[in-house]
Amino acid sequence: MAHKMAIIGYGGMAGQHHESINKLFSQQMQITGVYDVREEAAAKARERGLKAYPSAEAIYADKEVELVVIATPNDFHKPYAIACLQAGKNVISEKPVTLNAAELEAIIAVAKTTGKFFTVHQNRRWDLDYLIAKKIFADGILSDPYVIESRVQGSGRALHGWRGWKQNGGGMVLDWGIHLIDQMLDFFPQKVIEVHSALHQVFSNEVDDNFTASFRFENGLNYIVNIATNSFILQPRWHISANDGTAIIENWDCAGKIVKLADAKSLEWAEDIVYTTAGPTRTMAPRPKETTLELELPFPPGHNINNNWDMHWKAYYTNILDCLDGKAKPIVTTDQALRVMKIVDLVFQSGKEKHGIACNL
Ligand SMILES: NC(=O)c1ccc[n+]([C@@H]2O[C@H](COP(=O)([O-])OP(=O)(O)OC[C@H]3O[C@@H](n4cnc5c(N)ncnc54)[C@H](O)[C@@H]3O)[C@@H](O)[C@H]2O)c1
Repeated sequence: MAHKMAIIGYGGMAGQHHESINKLFSQQMQITGVYDVREEAAAKARERGLKAYPSAEAIYADKEVELVVIATPNDFHKPYAIACLQAGKNVISEKPVTLNAAELEAIIAVAKTTGKFFTVHQNRRWDLDYLIAKKIFADGILSDPYVIESRVQGSGRALHGWRGWKQNGGGMVLDWGIHLIDQMLDFFPQKVIEVHSALHQVFSNEVDDNFTASFRFENGLNYIVNIATNSFILQPRWHISANDGTAIIENWDCAGKIVKLADAKSLEWAEDIVYTTAGPTRTMAPRPKETTLELELPFPPGHNINNNWDMHWKAYYTNILDCLDGKAKPIVTTDQALRVMKIVDLVFQSGKEKHGIACNL
């Protein structure tokens, strides 16, 4: 028998959940229906063969529904999550799980009393560029990263709809930043000991539309997250500095390369002064090509840029189905989600107070 799931908030992202489940899990999961405050969204759901519940309460009361996906604007995640859990449903919240750590703690307290699972759709843990960045170190191609720059940039210069409003939890820290911070904490389990951020309102009167945050880890790693909606010349999606080389992943198409020392002795070449238009230099001289190796980026087996979107839905909902069958726990845990939100709180605090914040998270 297929598991039964309902969706609250049937906009853009809910449509992605719906389509992906129909495409990949039609035998194992059935979407019973949706609830949305807008009649147009309800009409669209009916057109696509789904029931439009008249209220969220009608979902809570539907005994068939085991799982609810919450895909509303961000400020509604907390009240719906708590109500769904109290009604005995398992819950997936879209990201950002809540607007701050305190809201999430309130959800976790309820989840603990129900025996149902609560998890977050942090889908960008399965992005190909991120999987490649992790694999560079997992395979030992490079070692000891000391600066990682993780950027998502564009020049759209518009925060669409509710994303522009503070009350709804708009802004880029909670929209894209949350993905990149979740990736960072998934990538490195070590403690973060300082958060420093600069939030900009280049064109929004209410929320951050561009920001840069740097995170100092206890092992010395400096991890920089940058989201730009006003960048007319793009920087690479990833630029990674490790002791023995450098990696670049240009964008979601995963073009890029790794350049590393050919061998440890190749460190010793630097005798010559190079004359540049800015004057003579040894330190900044380009390295002779024979002292380096240029390598292709390591793609995980079975992954390519054409199947990446499906791969993430497959990985995510396979785990959710296993959770519903009592065979697994959610991959995205509440502890992880809480760590992300505590760091996000510090990003906002640092931006507001205009200095770095020491922490132990
Ligand atoms: N994981 C991802 O990659 C990803 C991508 C996009 C959006 N999201 C998240 O998904 C959520 C929805 O974003 P979206 O882009 O689909 O927005 P959207 O505006 O397209 O859809 C939101 C829907 O919620 C409905 N809604 C608003 N208030 C409601 C309420 N109180 N009760 C019920 N329905 C309500 C709206 O009518 C709309 O149909 C957000 O939390 C967003 O951050 C996640």
